[in-house]
Amino acid sequence: MEKKIVIGNWKMKLTVEESVKQAKQLKKLVTGKLAKSVDIGIAPDFLSLPLVSQILKNTGVKLGAQDAWSEDFGSFTSQISPVNLKYFSCHYLILAHSERRQFAHEDYVEVNKKIITALKNDLTPVLCVGETFDERKEGRKDLVIMQQVQTALKGVDIKPEQNLIIAYEPVWAIGSGQATQPEEARHTALIIKQSLIDVLEGADLPLVKILYGGSVTPENIESFVKTKEIDGALVGGASLEAGTFIELIKKSVL
Ligand code: 13P
Repeated sequence: MEKKIVIGNWKMKLTVEESVKQAKQLKKLVTGKLAKSVDIGIAPDFLSLPLVSQILKNTGVKLGAQDAWSEDFGSFTSQISPVNLKYFSCHYLILAHSERRQFAHEDYVEVNKKIITALKNDLTPVLCVGETFDERKEGRKDLVIMQQVQTALKGVDIKPEQNLIIAYEPVWAIGSGQATQPEEARHTALIIKQSLIDVLEGADLPLVKILYGGSVTPENIESFVKTKEIDGALVGGASLEAGTFIELIKKSVL
């Protein structure tokens, strides 16, 4: 089995002091062996990111950001430059999280530009896709996912040295304590792969990894990652406390 990827998304849930405390705890708990067995990532809020970056240096834990702008620099008041994220050693860049789609009205046309800029800056995009409860109820889930993937990746050229991650996060499963069934996540991973074949003509598909996100816990992580189609997890609530997060990461080593 290939090495799995587990990324913690701290959203806007911790103070700077709490982020620093959890990062220090992680530094204590992540052994070299664990960091070699799993690709571990943490995406703190922007204000905590420089401090967390400093603490996690040389631990093997990769840093992620929760968004970035679609251009390197310019007159874009309040936005975050991907170039400056690189300065703080960011590796992953979460894009199109459902909370940004919902609260910042971000759409996949805008996200498409962000992916191109992220790849140019040597960041690994973690593109989030997922259906709402209504879309699922109406039987449109697979179609919605295909459209999201294809709009986000239209015209994107992934070079052999670049990576792309797609996180399937059903909107109704996020923070609800109700994860989707692993078999359903596996089915959706296959839908995503098919959409990739259609949109990324000629790209090396193994370079694209697929994560599941939505109420992942130390108790259920194994049921998702034991499927070869799922390369890991994007974790919210269960990543906020270092001890629980490490327990979850350990369970993702098969
Ligand atoms: P929860 O793990 O809290 O459901 O959050 C998932 C998520 O949104 C990760 O990006």
